Amino acid sequence: MIEPVSDIKTIAVLTSGGDSPGMNAAVRAVVRTAAAFGVEVYGIYHGYQGLIEGEFDIMTTHTVSNIIQRGGTVLKSARSEEFRTKEGRAKGAKQLQDRNIDALVCIGGDGTFTGANILSTEHGINVVGIPATIDNDIIGTDETIGYDTALNTALDAIDKIRDTADAHERMFLVEVMGRDAGFIALETAIATGAEMALLPEELTDVKEIKSQLKNMLKEQKRSSLIIVAEGDETGGALKLAENIKDDFKQYDMRVCILGHIQRGGAPSAHDRVLASRLGASAVKVLLEGHSEIMVGIVNNALKITPLRVAVSKKKQLDYALVELAKVLR
Ligand code: F6P
Repeated sequence: MIEPVSDIKTIAVLTSGGDSPGMNAAVRAVVRTAAAFGVEVYGIYHGYQGLIEGEFDIMTTHTVSNIIQRGGTVLKSARSEEFRTKEGRAKGAKQLQDRNIDALVCIGGDGTFTGANILSTEHGINVVGIPATIDNDIIGTDETIGYDTALNTALDAIDKIRDTADAHERMFLVEVMGRDAGFIALETAIATGAEMALLPEELTDVKEIKSQLKNMLKEQKRSSLIIVAEGDETGGALKLAENIKDDFKQYDMRVCILGHIQRGGAPSAHDRVLASRLGASAVKVLLEGHSEIMVGIVNNALKITPLRVAVSKKKQLDYALVELAKVLR
């Protein structure tokens, strides 16, 4: 049991940016932990846009029943252009002040944290961030909420693609999500035994790709899977296929873009537990007097990172895994 030192009586919670499986579990944990400490909770719909427009509703332990297993977010999500402006943030701050809300819990990725950080600096609002994005590209936590589920969704799809690739002896370029980050691409490549992973973090040389694929042909590989992160500099799987298909006619190349199926679905057990821990921790650290921070789990322990640090650094891929993917292909 913690000793609350702050006089926080009312908080609000929102989800923002790209949704991720487990956001609902995090909302539930925020609401139920707050209730356990006698703190009132408002849910804000449609992220920062709803904050600006005053889309608030009181949440109780009952309103978050039966949501831990659901993908998406019951609070809805949005990317708000207006909140990027000073005027938009002032409107949002006023909505909180009008309701005597002492702190805001923001569940999302780096864009969400950037917004929370500026709101706090400009208007002195207490904020805490909970990292939730399928991209896993937030420092200060080993994993973000939703990453594990997205990885397993992609894995399941790619295993199926392997079956048909093998049956027809084809080459498949499979595009996974990750505009700026290759975590999903790298780990699905290892887990599916893909022949190649193209990552936004690494320089991709199309000539080099062609030469590696030709070597594979010599090794008598009958089917091959190339995992392409959406943000890879080749411009994605379709463009890459256009670029190389004439050199590999014998492979009868196909492209499959997994897209938003990676964002949906029931969260894995891992994501539900992670979200529950982070949601509860967010409330506790607020009551302990922390603000302008994000909560994360590193080596199975709670880690607090200032939001300004969280948004200023890019999470690095584990380069031992990048090498492993190359050796095991
Ligand atoms: O939330 C992360 C993410 O899924 C990225 O991997 C992807 O590039 C982006 O969101 C897609 O966003 P939207 O759904 O707005 O097109």
